[in-house]
Amino acid sequence: MKTHNSVKLFASAMLGAALCGAGPIHAATLAISCGAVGQELEFCKTGTEAWAKKTGNEVKLISTPNSATERLALYQQLLAAGAGDVDVFQIDVIWPGTLANHFLDLTPYAKDVVKNHFAASIQNNTVDGKLVAMPWFIDAGVLYYRKDLLEKHGAKPPQTWQDLTETAKKIQDAERAAGNNQMWGYVWQGRAYEGLTCNALEWVASYNGGTIVDDKGKITINNPQAVAAVETAAGWIKTITPEGVLNYTEEEARGVFQSGNAVFMRNWPYAWSLAQGPESAIKGKVGVSALPKGGADGRSAAALGGWQLAVSKYSKNKELAADLVMYLTSPEEQKRRAINGAYNPTIESLYKDQEVLKAVPFFGELYDTFTSAVPRPSTVTGSNYNQASNQFWNAVHAVLSGRAKADASLGQLEGSLKRMSRGGKW
Ligand code: GLC
Repeated sequence: MKTHNSVKLFASAMLGAALCGAGPIHAATLAISCGAVGQELEFCKTGTEAWAKKTGNEVKLISTPNSATERLALYQQLLAAGAGDVDVFQIDVIWPGTLANHFLDLTPYAKDVVKNHFAASIQNNTVDGKLVAMPWFIDAGVLYYRKDLLEKHGAKPPQTWQDLTETAKKIQDAERAAGNNQMWGYVWQGRAYEGLTCNALEWVASYNGGTIVDDKGKITINNPQAVAAVETAAGWIKTITPEGVLNYTEEEARGVFQSGNAVFMRNWPYAWSLAQGPESAIKGKVGVSALPKGGADGRSAAALGGWQLAVSKYSKNKELAADLVMYLTSPEEQKRRAINGAYNPTIESLYKDQEVLKAVPFFGELYDTFTSAVPRPSTVTGSNYNQASNQFWNAVHAVLSGRAKADASLGQLEGSLKRMSRGGKW
């Protein structure tokens, strides 16, 4: 674990107050764990620096692994030790049920502002009546495409996965023939980790194949639509998708797309501001749409992701840590992050803010995609979620890598989820 960029700032106002005899100043040092995918660490640094300056404290940043799965393992280690070394944890939307016992109830700090956040986010973060984390940003899977290449080859953004497969193949082959041997049709996240659960849930839900486990806890994954969805994805490997995707997380997919070597990419909104950034090979050439439907009767399904901020129960500075969390999740800070980093606000009114919409037009155009995104079954499976998801991504990964057939693999998965949940009781 690396510690980056300590923020050392004593505000002159505080110094002034001390000199005027306002009592002793005990500036505290807080530690926050931040994501480091894309520009996350940079935004965490500038946000916490502003708070440090305002309050006369210090904040250390603890950077975490890019894979959500590895990050959870690290947090579980830290929290099980009960050490107060990290005051604020950035936690995934699927973790409140698993980690709730380690976090402070933020209700007293947040009671006046919870109404400004999406109700579903607040509900997701409320465990046994306690608000264990404040929503920071939402994620939903979207489709990135090369506007210029689609135009050049007379194609439109795809409506169904079949359209995507055909368009990707046609453009990939034509571009290769014209000299770009590196060109691929479609890149996404296929490593055996939580990101694959998100991608595969999107395929399955888009074919009306359910959400692995339904709201009541019933295991629904072994059905013909789910089998068709996973088979379709397996068919992409080596035809429109490089085999290397089986080891891609978000950043590997973005690397290929942003260097100009893919027609389509599935990713989260953060990739927008980087793809449009000064160092991008494809600046100005990128479009964003909802993900394709699973056939004419299917629907477009985006997995719901996102990150929250929680205060550790073992922190020695709980009040200050809660103040930092409230600052970072405030409308001002969420607006700054939306405009400059394309992080989806959890505050509804920011989706009507003209400056936000100008910087990230698809926040407006795809508003419904964000508000109707499909949650993973983390609430109903509670602390079993990670294990259940692990079984799911492994079952899908086996099919993608040609080691198993979709019907057999999902059939087996159903059996192991039944055992894990004692027949769906979880
Ligand atoms: C994004 C999402 C998160 C998800 C992860 C999977 O970070 O916000 O919810 O678990 O991707 O890779």
